[in-house]
Amino acid sequence: MPALVLLGAQWGDEGKGKATDLLGGSVDYVVRYQGGNNAGHTVVVGDQKYALHLLPSGILSPTCVPVIGNGVVVDPSVLLSELSGLNERGVDTSKLMISGNAHIITPYHVTVDKVTERFLGKRKIGTTGRGIGPTYADKINRVGIRVQDLYDESILTQKVEAALDVKNQVLTKLYNRRAIAVDQVVEELLGYAEKLAPYVADTVLVLNQALEDDKVVLFEGGQGTLLDIDHGTYPFVTSSNPTAGGACTGSGVGPTKISRVIGILKAYTTRVGAGPFPTELFDADGDALRRIGGERGVTTGRDRRCGWFDAVIARYATRVNGLTDFFLTKLDVLTGWEQIPVCVAYEIDGKRVEELPYSQTDFHHAKPVYETLPGWSEDITKAKSFSDLPKNAQNYVRALEEMSGAPISAIGVGPGRDETIEINSFL
Ligand code: IMP
Repeated sequence: MPALVLLGAQWGDEGKGKATDLLGGSVDYVVRYQGGNNAGHTVVVGDQKYALHLLPSGILSPTCVPVIGNGVVVDPSVLLSELSGLNERGVDTSKLMISGNAHIITPYHVTVDKVTERFLGKRKIGTTGRGIGPTYADKINRVGIRVQDLYDESILTQKVEAALDVKNQVLTKLYNRRAIAVDQVVEELLGYAEKLAPYVADTVLVLNQALEDDKVVLFEGGQGTLLDIDHGTYPFVTSSNPTAGGACTGSGVGPTKISRVIGILKAYTTRVGAGPFPTELFDADGDALRRIGGERGVTTGRDRRCGWFDAVIARYATRVNGLTDFFLTKLDVLTGWEQIPVCVAYEIDGKRVEELPYSQTDFHHAKPVYETLPGWSEDITKAKSFSDLPKNAQNYVRALEEMSGAPISAIGVGPGRDETIEINSFL
């Protein structure tokens, strides 16, 4: 049975939570495969609004098993408080599974993240300050702490010692900070062991068996394609692989098992943090998109940078992820504009360029080439089918589809769970 990947086609915050939750009822497992509590999903269920950072949004579905895969970085204090917050609101979280191979974000990773950003000054990345980059750096440097290490005190102590050896030198000598005590970190981490124990599992085995048993497994990417460490706007990226390949490495499920890769695509563009963004608006239109779209980060509370739709980026996302479908979100936010510009290509040093340039220098110089499409003023939030949309909204969707290289199979027309038009079923 199918394994599906659902991921952000732009710079994140495309509204994945809603898409995942919409599929939740028919999905048996929802898996996060990368990132950590730098992500932020807002999921609206009935009159309840949930902000999730680390947990897969499938946690809100009573029939679905949420899984935190090996590719995720886990801050145990955040995880436990997210779980207890949901429990207090009556959500059953007992089915959660966490890979023993997932890496742990410790307080020293958070410290290093913040200190590094401060010292980068105007060259800073604008990270979420959650310790994501330093935790992945330790993983690659082979001095990381994994969830399974919480269950062997001696190994844990050795590993924390190894990790802090160099870090304390850097913190004290370079950044003029106090050294971090090994015992204190070990004690804090051991304090989480018992609480996390019921959730720790061999998730690779569980997921592969589930697929053999014809279960539906949904992989949920955090962040977005352009924030991918390999394929994004490096260095203004996160430190993991939100792109489709990351679903395999971050879960231990092979690529032959994946049947569908769905890109979540906002009807306009946003990004948080630093880095190039060709269609960014600094005028009243940008302010209006921010206000109407509620474009404020779920995780950091930062205002998102806003701009028009960029088809060059959408085409790129189709290519690097092998997208089979798009889920277009927030179409309702565009209601009321008489004309809607869409970026169809870039102008770089006087030349028209149709595809995303591989050179960072070129991308920083890219100016959007716009085509303008006629807007609509009718309320679309009650539309149930494509034909319910005003003609100009239909034409906008069709134009985006043609430019972006994959069919638009669903459209979000409002924040509520049922404010979605399904065109082709995902299952
Ligand atoms: P980090 O992931 O905290 O290291 O931040 C690296 C970059 O990714 C920064 O520009 C962040 O603003 C951005 N980022 C991280 N998580 C998200 C997300 O969920 N949505 C949008 N941007 C994100």
